[in-house]
Amino acid sequence: MKTVLITGCSSGFGLETAKTFLDRGFRVIATMRKPDASLFPASDNLELLPLDVTDPDSIARVVDAAGPVDILVNNAGVGWLNALEGSPVDVIRKVFETNTIGVMALTQAFLPQFRARRAGMIVNVTSTVTLSPLHLLSVYTASKAAINAFSECLALELAPFDIGVRLVLPGRAPATDFGKNAASLSPDGMRIPETYKEIADAVFAEWAAAPADMVTRPQDVADAVYRAATDPSTPMRSPAGADAVALMSESRPALA
Ligand SMILES: NC(=O)c1ccc[n+]([C@@H]2O[C@H](COP(=O)([O-])OP(=O)(O)OC[C@H]3O[C@@H](n4cnc5c(N)ncnc54)[C@H](OP(=O)(O)O)[C@@H]3O)[C@@H](O)[C@H]2O)c1
Repeated sequence: MKTVLITGCSSGFGLETAKTFLDRGFRVIATMRKPDASLFPASDNLELLPLDVTDPDSIARVVDAAGPVDILVNNAGVGWLNALEGSPVDVIRKVFETNTIGVMALTQAFLPQFRARRAGMIVNVTSTVTLSPLHLLSVYTASKAAINAFSECLALELAPFDIGVRLVLPGRAPATDFGKNAASLSPDGMRIPETYKEIADAVFAEWAAAPADMVTRPQDVADAVYRAATDPSTPMRSPAGADAVALMSESRPALA
């Protein structure tokens, strides 16, 4: 039985991804900052471990406690929607510590066991916001675009050791706790400075006008992560969600 370790399983994409791997016969190590068994169906194949990806001691403890892992899914992340002028530097640091450095640190910590076994798959969840510039997303997009670039270089470096790296790019998923968790990063929430209000109103109006089916559901992400982790023919970047699939096909010529 193969083992998958997934970060950020307390809600949204991570929770659905953990349930999907469980349903498909994997041993699942579901990590989150505060483990809560009530989120999952009872299963002998499920283990919950505490993990804060911004804390080196927490990373060391999870690597010890997990034992052999076949697939690492770096899903934990925080959002941030604001103008740069409305983004306190300590919030920018938190976004990068979680979305960027956290992914690099956890991946680095699992590499010795992957390399020793000459096997392993790393799936990093980024975002379709990285495909084209968008208003009010400079900080968040930079944190995720860095992981796209990191993953593509890392894939070259790890190929000689038979370790795979893939990216999953979800679209916009209003149903998860993402917006609420982003707002909790700063005591002011994501209050957008008055000067940028017109831009923000246009962004929110565009979202409100989007067709209801052109969004990403947690199950879309779980399925894309599962495919990326288990099917070696999956390309480096997989979109997840109807909006993501549409965006990716529009932007493909520009990326070629
Ligand atoms: N929702 C969207 O529109 C969207 C679109 C594209 C990409 N994404 C990306 O998809 C991933 C999952 O997002 P989601 O929508 O499922 O959001 P979510 O419901 O807010 O879930 C995010 C998860 O990350 C965890 N997390 C945050 N900081 C952490 C830390 N320092 N250490 C460990 N875990 C931490 C949270 O756990 P706690 O309970 O500990 O806070 C939570 O389980 C993120 O990487 C996000 O950037 C989201």
